Amino acid sequence: MRLLVFGGTSFVGRAIVEDAVGRGHLVTTVNRGLTGADVAGVEALRGDRSTELGVLAGRTFDAVVDPSGQVPLQVLRTAWAKYAPFYAFVSTTAVYRALDAAGTDESAATWPGVADEDGDPADLTTLGPRKRGCELAVEQTYGSQGLIARAGMIVGPHDNVGQLPWWLGRIAVGGPFIAPGDPGRGLQLIDARDLAAFVLDQVEARRGGVHNVVPDGPNTTMGRLLDDCVRATGSDAEAMWMDEGFLLAQGVQPWAELPLWIPGGGAFWSVSGASAKAAGLRLRPFAETVRDTWEWLRSGGEVRAVAGAHPFGISKEKEQKVLAAWESA
Ligand SMILES: NC(=O)c1ccc[n+]([C@@H]2O[C@H](COP(=O)([O-])OP(=O)(O)OC[C@H]3O[C@@H](n4cnc5c(N)ncnc54)[C@H](OP(=O)(O)O)[C@@H]3O)[C@@H](O)[C@H]2O)c1
Repeated sequence: MRLLVFGGTSFVGRAIVEDAVGRGHLVTTVNRGLTGADVAGVEALRGDRSTELGVLAGRTFDAVVDPSGQVPLQVLRTAWAKYAPFYAFVSTTAVYRALDAAGTDESAATWPGVADEDGDPADLTTLGPRKRGCELAVEQTYGSQGLIARAGMIVGPHDNVGQLPWWLGRIAVGGPFIAPGDPGRGLQLIDARDLAAFVLDQVEARRGGVHNVVPDGPNTTMGRLLDDCVRATGSDAEAMWMDEGFLLAQGVQPWAELPLWIPGGGAFWSVSGASAKAAGLRLRPFAETVRDTWEWLRSGGEVRAVAGAHPFGISKEKEQKVLAAWESA
């Protein structure tokens, strides 16, 4: 197939492009040339979707794959341009108003979509309404030939957010480290490469629809994830499991200072992945994701955080203070 990919040099976009090239598709990418290197084997065009995409004038493709749309009017413009008869859009489960009940499926209430010309991709507080606006642009223009892939938390090589890379980096240093809450707490994490394969499978079958692209049920636990990090890095690090009340009393910030830790966060990690599973989502073993992410970091991979994202991780000094307090408690 002739595929037009918007972006294609970052985390998810890169995974889609690498997989598509591997499958023998003819891939054209469009980006500004700022974020990362082009994948070998693509036709790489330069364009800025916030201003003009004249480089695509008169071009047509079999499908558009849009992993990077963040601003509704920009997505509306590329949808209206009808570069192809099929449009796949990578969205997020942040479009749901709340993830506070287990089993949230695609029928749950979403934010109203905004249609904001100046929507700022760096403003993560407006992410849900912006991505919903992008979805509506695709749904209303493409109908059944539009795919909306609502990803949950994404991990894997080329990570541009940084949670799993932080844990790997910390654990590689060795010694006792803070392990938050219940080691048995289930997590739902999707490898960018599994997300990419799912999107391409649907594109090849020209199957539209809306899917939460998450494992249908936990695919690891906090305890297994940290064990996998110890194994992958070959470190002597030792997990010190501390209860959530103690950590909160110590002023440790969930998520920001200890990535992926949400106190009592059961519902956040139990979104329904049933429809993606039925549509053929395949998941690699989570330990493989951890190993490959570590290999990527070791071979010089760097988290180049998306605009607006805060860096993750507790400071060395604060970690030492909390470890000492735990010891004496
Ligand atoms: N990370 C998560 O856990 C998570 C969870 C759920 C959903 N998601 C979604 O997953 C997707 C991640 O996509 P991604 O990793 O490929 O990265 P992304 O940060 O959304 O997009 C970056 C790509 O878009 C290009 N780009 C940015 N601004 C552009 C512009 N004005 N004109 C043309 N190209 C532009 C960049 O290249 P240049 O800078 O060179 O132009 C780069 O190739 C996003 O849609 C995100 O909302 C992420």
